[in-house]
Amino acid sequence: MKHKPFDAERIKGAVQQFFPAGSSGEINIFKSINSTNAWLLENGQYGDICLSESQTNGRGRRGNAWISPDSGNIYFSYCYGLNDAVEQRSLLSLVTGVAIAEALTDIGLSGHGLKWPNDIYWQRKKMGGVLIESSNQSDRLIIGIGLNLNLPDIYHSEITQAAVSLNDVLKGSSINRDEMVIHLIRRLIQRLNTFENSTFDEIKQGWKEWDILLGETVSFQHQGDLVSGEVKELDQHGRLGISNETGGIEYYSSAEIKLRKL
Ligand code: BTN
Repeated sequence: MKHKPFDAERIKGAVQQFFPAGSSGEINIFKSINSTNAWLLENGQYGDICLSESQTNGRGRRGNAWISPDSGNIYFSYCYGLNDAVEQRSLLSLVTGVAIAEALTDIGLSGHGLKWPNDIYWQRKKMGGVLIESSNQSDRLIIGIGLNLNLPDIYHSEITQAAVSLNDVLKGSSINRDEMVIHLIRRLIQRLNTFENSTFDEIKQGWKEWDILLGETVSFQHQGDLVSGEVKELDQHGRLGISNETGGIEYYSSAEIKLRKL
C-alpha cells in the first residue's frame, strides 16, 4: 500500500524548539540512502538528524542487515556528542531504548517493552532496534533507530526473529508517521539532555520500567558453555545480571552474549 512521504516542513517546525542550544539541528530527509547512520557518520554535525524512506544497506547490530524497504517504516539517526564519560557511554543505548518506548506510548501503543540491550518488543515480537556507531576521528556518536511501522509480510521471512509492525498492532487507528517521528525526537532529546547528569540508579530505574526480561529464565552460549539463569538487574556498565547456581550473580556484556529468541 502506498504511504505518505515524510512531511519535512511539519517535522522541522514541530521539533525546532527541542534542540539543545548551539547544536546544528538540521533534519536531512532522503527518499533512499545506503544507511542513515553511515550518512551522519560522514556528514553529520552535533544535533543533526537523518531520516530516509528506505535504506539500501541498512545496518543492524552484530553486522546484521536491517531490512529497510520503502513501505512506511522509520529509519532514523541522530548525531550526539557525549563528553568523554566512558562509563555513561555504555548506558546510552539503554536511555535511547527508554526514549523510544516513551514515544510509542505517546502515540497510543501499550504492551511494549525493551529487551536488553536495546530491542523494542511488542508481545514477544521485535518492533525496532538501536545501533550506536562512532567514528575514530571524532567523539560524535550516531544513534540509529529502526522502527517497523509497516513491514510487508514478504520481508518477515528474511528476518531471523519474529517481527511485528506498529500498524499490525494499532489496526484501525491510523498512525501518523510524522507525529511518531516528532515524539521520537522530543523524547530522545529530552532523555539525552538529562543523561550525562543522571546517576546510574536513575538510569537503571528508567530502564527497569520497560525491561521485559527481568525475572525471566534465559540461556545462552558463553565461552563454549551453555549458561542459563534468571535475569537480574543491570550493573553500572549496563551489563546483564544472571543468577548462578551458587546464588550469586554474574554479569555479561552485550558483546559477550547473544540471548536466544524470546
Ligand atoms: C538492530 O539490529 O536491532 C539495530 C537496528 C538499527 C537499524 C537502524 S535503521 C536507521 C539506522 N541506520 C542504519 O543503517 N541502522 C540504523
